Amino acid sequence: MRQLSKNDSDRLRALATQYGTPAYAYDAEIIRRQYQRLESAFSASNAKIRFAMKALSNPAVLSLLADLGSGVDAVSIGEVRLALHAGIPSSDISFTPSLPPIEVVQQAIDLGVHVTVDSLSLLEKFGRTFGSEVPCSLRINPHIKAGANKKVQTGHKKSKFGISVDFVERAADLVSNYGIKVVGLHVHTGSDVADAEIFVRSAEVLFAAAELFEDVEIFDLGGGFKVAYRFGENDADVELIGAKCAQIREQYIQRSGRRAEIWLEPGKYLVSASGCLLAEATTVKKSPAVTFVGVDTGLNHLIRPMFYDAYHEIENISNPSGVPQKYTVVGNICETDTFAKDRMLPEVREGDLLVFRSAGAYGFTMASQFNSHPRPPEILVDAEESRLIRRRETFEDLLTAYA
Ligand code: LLP
Repeated sequence: MRQLSKNDSDRLRALATQYGTPAYAYDAEIIRRQYQRLESAFSASNAKIRFAMKALSNPAVLSLLADLGSGVDAVSIGEVRLALHAGIPSSDISFTPSLPPIEVVQQAIDLGVHVTVDSLSLLEKFGRTFGSEVPCSLRINPHIKAGANKKVQTGHKKSKFGISVDFVERAADLVSNYGIKVVGLHVHTGSDVADAEIFVRSAEVLFAAAELFEDVEIFDLGGGFKVAYRFGENDADVELIGAKCAQIREQYIQRSGRRAEIWLEPGKYLVSASGCLLAEATTVKKSPAVTFVGVDTGLNHLIRPMFYDAYHEIENISNPSGVPQKYTVVGNICETDTFAKDRMLPEVREGDLLVFRSAGAYGFTMASQFNSHPRPPEILVDAEESRLIRRRETFEDLLTAYA
């Protein structure tokens, strides 16, 4: 079986010919492999996986994951509705919004999904509105700095996310005043987290907090498992993380005599490696100091390098044995949208096909129509088959919402 990984140049060239560039392509087999690896790494605690669909929200991908047994974590009513549209049952959808008004929470509850409350203010409104009638989870901010990239850390003291671990007792007071049924505790410390101890420490914060909430039986450890962005790099050691989490869960069960169901919300881990962005080198431009490669895409389609200083491997599929030269690869947007600075690539000629790797997560979902460029299509490759799972936008799509 051929996959969209190294040595897949023929396949990628064929996709570019069939669907044009720029285009996102995802390999179903890689998504399945990642899901199964994570599921088996956490098998000792029988963890439930709820895919963080913000990473890749195409309904075809959601339903592929649902076939494997995955649920979905959604952050907006739009995502909830998209997941329902993809056929995910509401009982398999959790809603983890950031600072929503109570009306949005009401809509989520009307749609039948499980809500995570992320502030004391919302908890109070939740209590006033629903009393003990609707179960919920609480997101705790554990005050833990996780991962190397500050821009994707969400569990530190100054982060907007979650209820500070210092305020857990205040949360418990509100819960008892209003009789709120808190059935779960949630933590997510950030993205690109490789260190198993971060997951252990966050889980410990939840197990300790559970003592204040008698109905809690769900422990949602979030997502954030690091993935490889450079060739030769490794994903997070999920087997180690899974084994350690199983151990501390067991200790909690022993000492408390209570149930503990583990939930996970991975985004990148499931889909990052599966995806690539195919682009054409449209211009090779030499200036005295730099040789630029301009491509037919930009920060409007893949913003990670510009927004997070993220590294994506770039390959010149058309000329793999060309003499390596130093290039700065830039987009076609009227901003400084640099994909890669001073990158060694086999000689790039105008018209060559370039591939941006590990673009399955937060690639298409963070794409925009900036500069009035339509968004690219999405293609799902499964073994020898490929199919369009979202067509290329057209000029008419740009017009649809104007008055
Ligand atoms: N759960 C919650 C509550 C989250 O906020 C996120 C990501 C996840 C799960 C999934 O995290 P993951 O496993 O994908 O790391 N756009 C950035 C990453 C920001 C993630 C935001 N929240 C990037 O492209 O690096």
